[in-house]
Amino acid sequence: MAGRARLTPLGAPTRGTTNPNRLRRSDRWVAGTPWVRRVVEDAADPLVVDLGYGATPVTTVELARRLTAVRADVRVLGLEIDPERVAAARAAADPPRLEFRRGGFELAGARPVLVRAFNVLRQYSEDEVAAAWTAVTGRLAPGGLLVEGTCDELGRRCCWVTLDAAGPRTFTLACRPADLDRPSDLAERLPKALIHRNVPGERVHALMTALDRCWAHAAPFANFGPRARWTEAVRMLAPDWPVRDTRRRWRQGEVTLDWSAVMP
Ligand SMILES: C[S@@+](CC[C@H](N)C(=O)[O-])C[C@H]1O[C@@H](n2cnc3c(N)ncnc32)[C@H](O)[C@@H]1O
Repeated sequence: MAGRARLTPLGAPTRGTTNPNRLRRSDRWVAGTPWVRRVVEDAADPLVVDLGYGATPVTTVELARRLTAVRADVRVLGLEIDPERVAAARAAADPPRLEFRRGGFELAGARPVLVRAFNVLRQYSEDEVAAAWTAVTGRLAPGGLLVEGTCDELGRRCCWVTLDAAGPRTFTLACRPADLDRPSDLAERLPKALIHRNVPGERVHALMTALDRCWAHAAPFANFGPRARWTEAVRMLAPDWPVRDTRRRWRQGEVTLDWSAVMP
């Protein structure tokens, strides 16, 4: 499209590290969280963007496969700012279901209902986050969402923020509880907007401290396995914090809270 070709990609190439199945927890959350899933199910045009897919498009291919179960006619567009990575991904394309193109925070002119951007902003500076969020959310289709997060190499420790055009709505932790000594181990994977805020006096630090305390109190549940202990720890946390999901998600090693719980 001529209009698209004229857009200058917003942002800068960064390390392309990725791994098969690394983003399964956020994919599962998108497909399994009713208010997020509905955005894809109800879309007039079910276009989803994976922004910054990295050296290989493996996580984009997986996202497309998983979202097909949500809506058979979903289309996934992988955008990368690094042209060599765009060229390398073309062999995996399966248009119109799955396509790859060069683009940045301007989304190459696309108007998706959902943008997933994982491990992209972590290599930017904290003061670049707000502009990147605004650029992306300003280009969403009406009612659309941005899921922006960070995780470890194997996708066992993940944290993400979900935003709409009005700004951040929720904050999610997702982990393999068996991998944790304590929930605050997840702090090393906080999104860029929060990672420098994990210090006393900031809300995200208070949340990590409270979750560690609940985890300690839930120690007897370790007899039933680490997931049972996580579930019990979140159950203990919920009366005092704006937890927005239920036991069904906690059992997956997740918890989603209102953004107000961690807002810097
Ligand atoms: C660490 S990789 C993440 C790959 C994959 N999303 C994952 O989580 O496994 C980050 C990628 O984001 C790309 N990137 C950085 N800034 C970008 C931007 N503004 N728009 C599109 N891609 C960007 C980089 O070139 C790099 O390939």
